[in-house]
Amino acid sequence: MNRVPLESERSWASAFTNVSREHGFEPLRVEGRLPEGLSGTCYRNGPGLVELLGRRYAHWFDGDGAVSAVRFGEGGATGAVRVLETRGLLEERERGKPYWGAYGTKAPGFYNPVRTFRVAAGTSKNPANTSVLAWDDRLLALCEIGRPFELDPEDLRSIGETDLGGVVERSFSAHPHRVAASGYVFNLGTRIARPRAVDLFALRPDGTAGMLAQLPLPFDTMIHDFAVTDRHLVIFVAPLKLSLLPMMLGLKPFDRSLTWEAARGTEIVVVPLDAPASPKRFFVDAFWTWHVGNAFERDGRIVVDVVRYDDFAASNAWLSKIVDGAVDADTDGFLARAVIDPKAESIAFERLRDRTGEFPRVAPHVEAASHQTLYWTEHSTKAVGHYGPPDTVVRLDVETGDVDAFTFGGGHKPSEAVFAPRPGGEGERDGWLITQVYDPGAHATYWAVLDAAHVSDGPVATAHMDHHVPLSFHGTWVPR
Ligand SMILES: [Fe+2]
Repeated sequence: MNRVPLESERSWASAFTNVSREHGFEPLRVEGRLPEGLSGTCYRNGPGLVELLGRRYAHWFDGDGAVSAVRFGEGGATGAVRVLETRGLLEERERGKPYWGAYGTKAPGFYNPVRTFRVAAGTSKNPANTSVLAWDDRLLALCEIGRPFELDPEDLRSIGETDLGGVVERSFSAHPHRVAASGYVFNLGTRIARPRAVDLFALRPDGTAGMLAQLPLPFDTMIHDFAVTDRHLVIFVAPLKLSLLPMMLGLKPFDRSLTWEAARGTEIVVVPLDAPASPKRFFVDAFWTWHVGNAFERDGRIVVDVVRYDDFAASNAWLSKIVDGAVDADTDGFLARAVIDPKAESIAFERLRDRTGEFPRVAPHVEAASHQTLYWTEHSTKAVGHYGPPDTVVRLDVETGDVDAFTFGGGHKPSEAVFAPRPGGEGERDGWLITQVYDPGAHATYWAVLDAAHVSDGPVATAHMDHHVPLSFHGTWVPR
């Protein structure tokens, strides 16, 4: 882009300073009118500390996790935010200096055999900074590198890591999917080294957890998200090969130890839920995806809506620059419908939207096969995408292409839109979208509530914190 970015295209950079104040639920200033019926809590997770003990992290994915929340009810809103007191963070504070590397940040100093041993043993730092799962009256902060980190849903105080009753040995990824029809929550965890494998988990409606299967992987890699239908899990194993040694030795951060080997293709792993140890596996042309929006089955085919990238490196480089406020490249993440034919071992993509964006979501109470609506955040112009994160919340009808969108002006940056169903409502537009917005003018964060049926009308109400929270990744809605 051959021009100087506008002030509004770069002003979001100030979001990437440490969260300035931690607190439990306290009243927020509300503008507009909160909808009657909106009663519950939206929890979000993201980096709360982008700098720790004199070291600034090099990637958006690296910061120490902070869970923030807004609670609506009785005509008002309260908000809370706390940095998660993970074992790794407490250890570094005790040492008085950074000790661990992170996804995009090299470990400090030179080779350290004790640290390398701990990385190999899977006991390195887990920043718990990516998403939150509300399950069985518990609140779990998730990051794909480690086990769930539990916190108190009432005041966000840290409790500690959990293995969910001896089920999660290594990692429990940050993108669990709940199947509306059964109430089951499925997740995966990627293991590196011995064994190279992906663990598949099921959280049952009765509050118990179990491992479904462990599927071998051909090389060490990273799998960010996956798809679930009523009958199958679908995992995309991209040709992203991790060189273990430099990462283990602390010579390179995780992301710079990854190599995109396009010629291998992307492996599609279709896992039957009734026979999870016997998946169908086949290769297609290489592609990369961070996030899946919806998945269902139709006429023997599996339909998955994803944000599709041509490769990993460009999108990872774009994401790494976010934390510096210095994005200066086009992104190529386009919403696409992938139709997978397991019998023919094929995949066909159809682009759903001609603008770039991320964080596709659906109304979670509606059965997947009935979904016609995706919510996501996108860039209102190519320049906005060239210089930073999305500025627009979109409701997209994936069958007709109809769009209902609202662009936040003034350099305000919304997060992923979390759907809160209207109590008793059944439709996938029957509820509200809650998005956490950074306002650079006020250097503060507010939570916007939009009517999902009338997105372009803009927020019906906003609830304002008196401080900011760095741009976050994923959230969830817990009705009262
Ligand atoms: Fe994610």
